[in-house]
Amino acid sequence: MNNPLIYSTTPRTGNPETQRWQELDAAHHLHPFSDAASLNAEGSRVITKGEGIYLYDSEGNKILDGMSGLWCVNVGYGRKELADAAYKQIQDLAFYNTFFKTTHPPVAELSELVTKVAPAGFNHIFYTNSGSEGNDTVIRMVRHYWSCLGQPQKKVIIARDNAYHGSTIGGASLGGMDYMHEQGDLPIPGIAHIEQPYWYANGGDLSPEEYGIKAARELEKKILEIGVENVAAFIGEPIQGAGGIIIPPSTYWPEIQRICGHYGILLVADEVICGFGRTGEWFGSDYYGIKPHLMTIAKGLSSGYMPIGGVLVHDSIADVIKDNGDFNHGFTYSGHPVACAVAAENIRILQRENIIPRMKNEVMPYAHQRWHDAFDDHPLVDDVRSLGYFFAITLVKDKASRTRFENGDALALQCRDVCFNNNLIMRATHDSMISAPPLIMTRKQVDEFVDLAYRCVDQFYHQIK
Ligand SMILES: Cc1ncc(COP(=O)(O)O)c(C=O)c1O
Repeated sequence: MNNPLIYSTTPRTGNPETQRWQELDAAHHLHPFSDAASLNAEGSRVITKGEGIYLYDSEGNKILDGMSGLWCVNVGYGRKELADAAYKQIQDLAFYNTFFKTTHPPVAELSELVTKVAPAGFNHIFYTNSGSEGNDTVIRMVRHYWSCLGQPQKKVIIARDNAYHGSTIGGASLGGMDYMHEQGDLPIPGIAHIEQPYWYANGGDLSPEEYGIKAARELEKKILEIGVENVAAFIGEPIQGAGGIIIPPSTYWPEIQRICGHYGILLVADEVICGFGRTGEWFGSDYYGIKPHLMTIAKGLSSGYMPIGGVLVHDSIADVIKDNGDFNHGFTYSGHPVACAVAAENIRILQRENIIPRMKNEVMPYAHQRWHDAFDDHPLVDDVRSLGYFFAITLVKDKASRTRFENGDALALQCRDVCFNNNLIMRATHDSMISAPPLIMTRKQVDEFVDLAYRCVDQFYHQIK
């Protein structure tokens, strides 16, 4: 077929539209987090349809989506109920704001649904369009909270290296990605970072449990360095997603909780990835027994069918915000009726189909076993890890000495391409290959997913050996 742009190793069926879409895309679309020159030279793969855990491209290839889109399509693609909810809401009321003494049924209904599945004491939600805006809202809300309590100097928010909290100026500042900070003079003032709880990389001779305490105590050190009178909050993802599925040692979160409580600083859980079932519980905070004051949510809230995010606010914070006049913050589309109607139906699907406990009990243990059986002894990989519907491996030079490749990031990107060309979507983060499939993956599909992932990684191993 005469198509110089499409992936050379991807099977083709010869859709004449593919090249046109690729050319339009290359000519006019600036992609997020992409090197435009190399992407356009290669040509974007054109995704045209989704069904269950699979995507289809414009050439008719069926692709197993091991990333749930971008960690979001928890209930899988092609849900008619969600299409119907959007269709009905657009006809009833496509848009109205909630700024000036008005509300509408979908936002009221969704707020009740979400606060009912949230941990005890979370009875309020502030809406945004995305996780990044949720974390910007966190920055504004915690600073406003302390001002309301007469401590306006309590501004600093402590976050972690290699964390991902979004790509707005606030979100990227909270994040600990150097390559993002390099562009645009970030972080903004008033944000500090501490070590991430990554035992495999940083634990040395300590046991994971010992290291978990050590990593958490970095928070205490930082609070004392900055002065507790200046520290507003600590923020962390229960499990770091975009940073490479970093699963903290079991001792980490209890110690963080103790430190936040001891110094009286707010604890913010960024649940944008962990929320809505990814860990086998409704929230990552439920999984770890974390008791946060604020929880950022997005992605799984609507399973990615509509852009919507927000901040779940504990009563102890909401009471202060509600008692102190205007909170001068919001977005035109905060609580957008169509997004809320779709998100509400998404929550009802999770409840109706009992997806979270069913997957936790019936599929996740099987998936973890299969993942470990496949990869534990593979010579190219180490730190084989899984939790809920998170799966990851690290590409290593030598397992026994935990020696990583100097060019591990580049190798993982090549490995990702091998997966992609074999119609499996996994993501490369640093030298790890990571996956977070839709929560509806059955045991049979787990077999398909693990077998395919193994074949791709093994194929890559033989290429580079
Ligand atoms: C933990 C976490 N927080 C925030 C965000 C930002 O969300 P969004 O891309 O919707 O702005 C992400 C996105 O991946 C995330 O993983």
